[in-house]
Amino acid sequence: MNVVMLGPPGAGKGTQAVRLAGLYGIPHISTGDIFRENVREGTELGRRAREYMERGELVPDELVIEIVADRLSREDCRSGFILDGFPRTVAQAEALKDMLAERGRSLDHAVNVEVPEEVLVKRISGRRTCRECGANYNVHFDEEGPGEACRECGGEIYQREDDLEETVRRRLREYRAKTAPLIDHYRSEGLLRQVDGNAPPDEVLRAIKNALEGSGAAG
Ligand code: AP5
Repeated sequence: MNVVMLGPPGAGKGTQAVRLAGLYGIPHISTGDIFRENVREGTELGRRAREYMERGELVPDELVIEIVADRLSREDCRSGFILDGFPRTVAQAEALKDMLAERGRSLDHAVNVEVPEEVLVKRISGRRTCRECGANYNVHFDEEGPGEACRECGGEIYQREDDLEETVRRRLREYRAKTAPLIDHYRSEGLLRQVDGNAPPDEVLRAIKNALEGSGAAG
């Protein structure tokens, strides 16, 4: 199953992509996680991506497309993938279509997770992330709270640099200008699956699963 997750910053794409990957036994590929790992390791890619990420802007298409093409060519993607944070522009969507076609494959679903803007801002401001494995917690929504160490791997919990209010506003503007047009793009291709993301994570997962397995409404 070849799936892309769409939605604004804070919609819960990452949260649900991890669960879907576990459910279907296919890899979760997050371009944001790949960039953050490269920033942490001080690679050339990390240095180039960092300036855009810190400003809340999208990293240029050519940088992103190359890393996704490389990642999708690996063996573990043969039976499918959950792409989280890619594509984010129409040019990236076209590039994805081409790279799949080269392998005789195509996209099955584009899941759009819808959440009102005031909820997005609350979720992002409350998000805490594990520096080691990228697991997400939330000071507003997790009953147990984020704690000081990751419950998955024991890693350090921190607040992402791009989760500060001013940067979040810029990320939302970038989303509206460059990524939201993908909703119509995938609707016109018959691949759009609209899901209400303003519900507890288990309910959102159920809605996505229904949409992927045929009992949910297409967009
Ligand atoms: P990226 O890491 O992809 O960030 P994003 O799209 O802004 O998405 P987020 O990680 O903020 O949100 P999410 O939807 O995954 O929500 P999450 O599950 O964490 O990208 C970062 C940067 O990298 C970009 O700004 C750009 O610079 C660059 N980049 C990456 N990909 C790129 C590309 N393709 N092209 C160009 N540039 C690119 O949830 C958020 C919070 O809410 C968490 O705390 C979570 O615990 C909580 N939560 C989740 N679901 C629920 C729920 N149902 N109820 C209550 N709380 C919930």
